[in-house]
Amino acid sequence: MNAGFLGIGHYTPEKVLTNKDMEQIVDTSDEWIRTRTGIEERRIAADGEDTSDMSYNAAVNALEDAGMTAEDLDMIIVATVTPDQPFPSVSAMLQHKLGANKVAAMDVGAACAGFMYGVITAKQFIDTGSYKNILVVGTDKLSKITDWEDRNTCVLFGDASGAAVIGPVDDEKGILSFELGADGSGGPHLYQDQKDALQMNGREVFKFAVRQMPESSVNVVKKIGLKEEDVDFLVPHQANIRIMEAARERLGIPPEKMATTVKKYGNTSSASIPVALSEEVKAGKIKNGDLVVLVGFGGGLTWGAVALRW
Ligand code: ACO
Repeated sequence: MNAGFLGIGHYTPEKVLTNKDMEQIVDTSDEWIRTRTGIEERRIAADGEDTSDMSYNAAVNALEDAGMTAEDLDMIIVATVTPDQPFPSVSAMLQHKLGANKVAAMDVGAACAGFMYGVITAKQFIDTGSYKNILVVGTDKLSKITDWEDRNTCVLFGDASGAAVIGPVDDEKGILSFELGADGSGGPHLYQDQKDALQMNGREVFKFAVRQMPESSVNVVKKIGLKEEDVDFLVPHQANIRIMEAARERLGIPPEKMATTVKKYGNTSSASIPVALSEEVKAGKIKNGDLVVLVGFGGGLTWGAVALRW
């Protein structure tokens, strides 16, 4: 018995903000944003639509995919840095919205690596036999901490939620290896300030990410005694196409074997990996038996990677 994905789902708000729209907000251009980041548009939550609402939609989608109802859940973990409010947690709010049993619910915060942390936390409870079906949601409404006057950051982010039901699968499937890490000395490069706005030293984060994502991707593959060329599909954190390309090139896999939802959604933080994974699975690009690498990095600084057999 191993821990693996029993169902996957996602939700993105309807409202689209294109690069052309961004030109009306700050001194930027479609050309600059595309060439530096690969982003073409992003989604923005509707008025009154908060992180827990988006999470609910993604969770319902994942439960449907798993053929389960909320009553089948033994635990709920939500990865987010933009909860509706500091407490109650989004996971507790979600438990109530879903009508789940009164099972354990907690939020984890590891910024864009949050979903990786959530999935690996879930795996521990499943491996020990303590719990069976755990809902893990990666969700962020970054638009509410975006400084819409700062062109260095506001063009990068969007709102979304992704969700997975993690549970027992056959030994040869599921999560085969993982790596989690953090380097708190890099905290000042990416943080939320006293006015609640996101602040970032883009160049420093970029340098860290182009080193860490390739390294962690290779590490999780080596841990299971396989080689880079054995990877069938790569789902990297969707922050910047240039950073993602560094990981893909290090693994030596072709462009069509990497998720690139960054074009449509920008950087959706904790949601980016589960949204990309859900889209690729539903598009039939990730198939039964494929070796998939998920890899993320984020504020903290944090990172996490998983090698799994779909
Ligand atoms: N439009 C036009 N010009 C811009 C814009 C914009 N939106 N933003 C910045 N510029 C300008 C800068 O002012 C700078 O001008 P200057 O040279 O006159 O000072 C110039 O463009 C180049 O800036 P660089 O920082 O060199 O641009 P770079 O190629 O590094 O790209 C970017 C910037 C896209 C932010 C890149 O550094 C990056 O992607 N970094 C990583 C960011 C990231 O992944 N963050 C998410 C972490 S995950 C999480 O936890 C949320």
